[in-house]
Amino acid sequence: MDYTMEQYQASAQAIRSRLGDFVPKVAMVLGSGLGYLGDEVENPIAIDYKDIPHFKSSTAPGHKGRLVFGTLEGQKVAVMQGRMHHYEGYSYEEVSYGVRVLRLLGCDTLIVTNAAGCVNTQWEAGDLMLITDQIKLFSESPLRGENLPAFGDRFPDASHLYTLRLQELARRTAREMGIPLREGVYFYCYGPQYETPAEVRAARILGGDAVGMSTAPEVIVAGHCGMEVLGLTLLSNMAAGILDQPLSEKEVLDAAEAAREKFSGLVRACLKKL
Ligand code: HPA
Repeated sequence: MDYTMEQYQASAQAIRSRLGDFVPKVAMVLGSGLGYLGDEVENPIAIDYKDIPHFKSSTAPGHKGRLVFGTLEGQKVAVMQGRMHHYEGYSYEEVSYGVRVLRLLGCDTLIVTNAAGCVNTQWEAGDLMLITDQIKLFSESPLRGENLPAFGDRFPDASHLYTLRLQELARRTAREMGIPLREGVYFYCYGPQYETPAEVRAARILGGDAVGMSTAPEVIVAGHCGMEVLGLTLLSNMAAGILDQPLSEKEVLDAAEAAREKFSGLVRACLKKL
């Protein structure tokens, strides 16, 4: 289905009625097991997705399914604690619905985080990666269907979906904090099954450094509506076939928990400098 501008506006209006004069500026979408930053928001106003018209629920493990508005490191943030995924049965338009609503509410920046499999064999599980670009070749665009010009052009440029200025900000911040930060390309895969070793080899040949089941649709939509984007990945595990061991959701969530201090420290420090 194509969402209409009226539907986006209705969602935004329902949220606005709960926010008083609070206008968020930085939208944050937090990935698997990485939702803890939402709990650190000061003076929080939490709204469950199910209480927002036209919003879908997030059913994935480690995703709370609510929006938290408030202040973090002096920034007015809107945190999506839990995202929607295509593998949950949602269309890409549904997956990225919240980004457009947050844009209407006033957000001009999007910080996305995710957990992903590490494709680059020079790196290790537990490393953090700055996303410099993405590959989403084998699935339709979230912008498919009627274009809503109020958000952006029919054929938007995607040369710099991940804003160069914010990449540099994250690089500098990580360096100052002494946190090693890899840089690379996020390769989107549908899921929910983890990739096969052959798919991981293919991703590597095509230029991917990390494989994951999220982020790329939301970032396309954010770019379309003119938001600046910063993407940070926790490489929670070596991707399939690299080590001779099965992948599991537990491994991903454990890695997210283990990286908590480093990851939230870096995101918070970046926020402060925005
Ligand atoms: N593949 C896809 N998505 C993931 C992975 C993975 O190896 N780890 C965490 N999310």
